[in-house]
Amino acid sequence: MKASIKVCVFASGTGSNFQAIMETESLACEIVLLVCDRPGALVIDKAKQKQIPVHVFDPTSYPSKQAYEEELITVLREREVTWIFLAGYMRIIGAHLLQAYHGRIVNIHPSLLPKFPGKDAIEKAYRAKVNKTGVTVHYIDEGIDTGPIIAQQEVKIYPTDSLKTLTNRIQKVEHQLYPKVINQLIQNEG
Ligand code: GRF
Repeated sequence: MKASIKVCVFASGTGSNFQAIMETESLACEIVLLVCDRPGALVIDKAKQKQIPVHVFDPTSYPSKQAYEEELITVLREREVTWIFLAGYMRIIGAHLLQAYHGRIVNIHPSLLPKFPGKDAIEKAYRAKVNKTGVTVHYIDEGIDTGPIIAQQEVKIYPTDSLKTLTNRIQKVEHQLYPKVINQLIQNEG
């Protein structure tokens, strides 16, 4: 582990991707913080179990996105975070944070972007009766799931699939692909 590269994960929900990243033995960076915008989310417990510091905030208690993002930027800088990895973070990143971490905010999305952006991407692909979908890791920009693509992996949809079996297969791919891409990004910057 290269302790000098400090990263933060943003998540809002279950945190299976956060867990996969956190449990990667050969991770080339150190997760110094979990940011969560939903007090009570399961991902918080996952971080606490591994003694990873957590910053939980409730966006509704701030006057604006700018206000909570300014606080986030302060917290991130205090912990010397250089990369932000979104893992099921259900909030659009605003101009302030984007500017502060330009080109250093990455997301994982459960479809082959640009197909099926936004929420419920697995279900949308399943209902569209396409024969393949997949997983995309991409940089964040101002849009929803529109930033430059870093890596994609295809997942076939079989006629026998239920939404559940497809979801399970996609998650398995996510849990392998995301840590791999994170390591590549970190290692590429030397
Ligand atoms: C994942 O499917 C990810 O691609 C999407 O949100 C989901 C988060 O799942 N952005 P989890 O909380 O990591 O289990």
